[in-house]
Amino acid sequence: MRKREQWKSQIGFLLAAVGSAIGLGNIWRFSYMAYTYGGGAFLIPYLTALFTAGIPLLILEFAIGHERIGSAPLAYAKIRKNWEWLGWWAVTFVMFGIVLYYVVIIAWCLNYFIMSFSLDWGADPNTFFFEKFLAVSGSASKMGQIRTPIFFALIIIWFINWAVVYRGVQKGIELANKIFMPMLFVLTAVLVFWSLNLEGASEGIKAYLTPDFSKIMNPKVWIDAYSQIFFTLSLGFGIMIAYASYLPEKSDITKNAVLTAFLNSGYSLFAGFAVFSVLGFMAHAQQKAISDVVSQSIGLAFVAYPKALSLMPGGNLFGAIFFFCLVVAGVSSSVSIIEAFTSAMVDKFNLNRKTLVSVISILGFLGSIVFTTQAGLIWLDIVDHFLTNYGLVVVGIAECILVGWLFDIYILQKHVNRVSSIKLGRVWVGLIRYFVPGMLAIMLFGALKAEVTKPYSGYSWAAIGLIGVNWIVLTVLVAVVLATRPWRTEQNKKGGRSEK
Ligand code: PHE
Repeated sequence: MRKREQWKSQIGFLLAAVGSAIGLGNIWRFSYMAYTYGGGAFLIPYLTALFTAGIPLLILEFAIGHERIGSAPLAYAKIRKNWEWLGWWAVTFVMFGIVLYYVVIIAWCLNYFIMSFSLDWGADPNTFFFEKFLAVSGSASKMGQIRTPIFFALIIIWFINWAVVYRGVQKGIELANKIFMPMLFVLTAVLVFWSLNLEGASEGIKAYLTPDFSKIMNPKVWIDAYSQIFFTLSLGFGIMIAYASYLPEKSDITKNAVLTAFLNSGYSLFAGFAVFSVLGFMAHAQQKAISDVVSQSIGLAFVAYPKALSLMPGGNLFGAIFFFCLVVAGVSSSVSIIEAFTSAMVDKFNLNRKTLVSVISILGFLGSIVFTTQAGLIWLDIVDHFLTNYGLVVVGIAECILVGWLFDIYILQKHVNRVSSIKLGRVWVGLIRYFVPGMLAIMLFGALKAEVTKPYSGYSWAAIGLIGVNWIVLTVLVAVVLATRPWRTEQNKKGGRSEK
């Protein structure tokens, strides 16, 4: 029987968890949300979501992995035998769904990193991005050709992912994050201070932070704040469970969860300054209003930002640092996804990590290719919509029901309180049992209601059904098949740490 791998240090674990949490989503999604949803006032729903759902669920996932000593499927199987499929579903849809397009966006960032040096996008970054770089075909079924620059960048990104996960928990993931995270913080700080000194920066900051309390009266803002918190903390994917399963016996669960959550949100807030100072600068340089230069998520990073870089003295260096940060933030997240799946397979089938990681990386690479075609953007959008709105949410609800109702949640509470400095009381139990699943259920119904009233983002029903719905169905099937295979290890026969 192989010994379970372990983090070398608590800080190594913390940096890895933070590395998973801080990703592409933190840099542009958060800032854009804050801006549209009431600036400084958005912090009210955002922080409420963090404290009432994000931190409690993060503690729960850390506790599950640490107490049951296993990746999601193993840990769930040790909680209730016939719930193993849930763990498989989480790690399957994240490995054969989310990561496949997530790495493609990182590949775009890598391209833009290189192009920054000579500001290759020219005077019209919008046309450049959609028509030249992605050469979007306009419909999901018109795949057209593979975009070669994206394809080559994709090879590099998969290679880095492979190399990190291949080397294992300590020498791969821990070491990589110990290098990546401090580097990311330093480079982001450079961007923030640089951008704050640009002319017009204060206009941008004003737009970013001026509170508009009328906006947060809208329930949609609250729902979106909750979903941003779940996504940004990588919850519901089995990732934090796997990472916590590598912690040694003596580990402060609550302190690590609180630190992870604060570092992640603090980073979002901080990076927002760089995003908005630059937009303020661009508005100022073009004599436009801020609202005319801001655009949504993908447009913000690949259209608005490049435009600003072209106008800025030293914009090529600034751009290179910016896109490099996105690559680093992205890779430390994609690595965590691959690890969640790897660790599940090793736990159950006792496979050799190195061979397994090589096979998974090749499959993942092949699966990603569809997103590098001219219909890639459309596929990406549909798959993302379904997996984050339904996959993540359903797993989150099921997780709370399983642990809160079908299992003695006090076992986890006692375990956490035994090892942690911040103690959990009845409030935590109540949040996990009632509030978090309730909130997720509201999100689920909201999404379903919007879904049936009009096709998502104006795509054809055929494309949505074929791509989105099938992706959900297929990943569930794979999960059930994996769950019903016999165990090749004895690990499922053992209980958690509390039962020793
Ligand atoms: N937390 C990451 C981000 O904010 C996203 C992520 C999702 C990471 C799923 C891992 C798994 O970008």
